[in-house]
Amino acid sequence: MPAAVTPEFPDHLRTQVDDYLAAIRFSDDPALAGLQDAMRYSLLAGGKRIRPVLALATAAAISMPVEQVLPLAAALELIHTYSLIHDDLPAMDDDDLRRGRPTCHVAFGEDVAILAGDALYAEAFRHLLTEQRGQPANLLRAAAELAGATGVDGMVGGQFLDVEASAPAGAGGLRHLHELKTGRLIGASVKCVLLIDGGQPAATMERFEVFASELGVLFQIVDDILDVTGSDAALGKASGSDERLGKRTYVTEFGLEGARRLAREAHHNASGALAGAGTREPGQLQQITDFIARRSF
Ligand code: IPE
Ligand code: IPE
Ligand code: MG
Ligand code: MG
Ligand code: MG
Repeated sequence: MPAAVTPEFPDHLRTQVDDYLAAIRFSDDPALAGLQDAMRYSLLAGGKRIRPVLALATAAAISMPVEQVLPLAAALELIHTYSLIHDDLPAMDDDDLRRGRPTCHVAFGEDVAILAGDALYAEAFRHLLTEQRGQPANLLRAAAELAGATGVDGMVGGQFLDVEASAPAGAGGLRHLHELKTGRLIGASVKCVLLIDGGQPAATMERFEVFASELGVLFQIVDDILDVTGSDAALGKASGSDERLGKRTYVTEFGLEGARRLAREAHHNASGALAGAGTREPGQLQQITDFIARRSF
């Protein structure tokens, strides 16, 4: 993981997220230090921090102080890190390298890695519900969105469609798989901020929803492309994992050029929706969108 993501990425937001995450402690019990070590090993290994940075940039776009949503941003990254730990397990994608380090189960054993993932998920909600400021009704809406985005109609459902290869045939089925597996958590990174704010007009919410949905799909199309074109060193994870596992991806479905064309379309659609959202300060969200489209890791 390079020190600076790209010159165009809002790195100051990423630094704020990294500092905030580094300060979180889950327990003072010495007997649980090994569990906390495994959680922090994966959480603080680097990572692009796209989801929490998106949350902060969304806050900036609606003139909310970005510090105000740091607890939400942390919860998003805790959940994302849990999903990576479980995704890498031998029973799932069986990968040995993540964020430039041996995967959690390689470093700590499968049993501890499973528990570290479980604990990160629960601690994400504890952190959100104890630390995030906002109107209680708005916070409940945000918590419900986050739970939904990561549940059966969200990330875990998408992972099921992925491992069971049970998404419907055709472009619509593949898009649905990507929307659930990756899109909903990315969408929640935007939507939860709007819910905590609670004051955005319905039309703005709708445009943001289209933006976040296109961005989520764009993110996973690029992830599929990089699995074919990227190197282990640049990605900090094993390339070629999808092919080894016979995964259905945008590259297997449409070919490399087809996937690149669809990524360009999703980039165009996401940018159009963002422009139409009428926010005061969309600049950082556009930077993140451009970074997601052009990233090489
Ligand atoms: C990888 O996510 C897993 C997917 C959802 C495709 P990222 O590419 O955001 O991984 P990190 O957080 O930067 O390590
Ligand atoms: C995993 O997708 C998405 C998650 C919900 C973690 P991938 O299996 O494609 O992610 P990578 O390529 O291992 O990061
Ligand atoms: Mg996977
Ligand atoms: Mg994987
Ligand atoms: Mg992948």
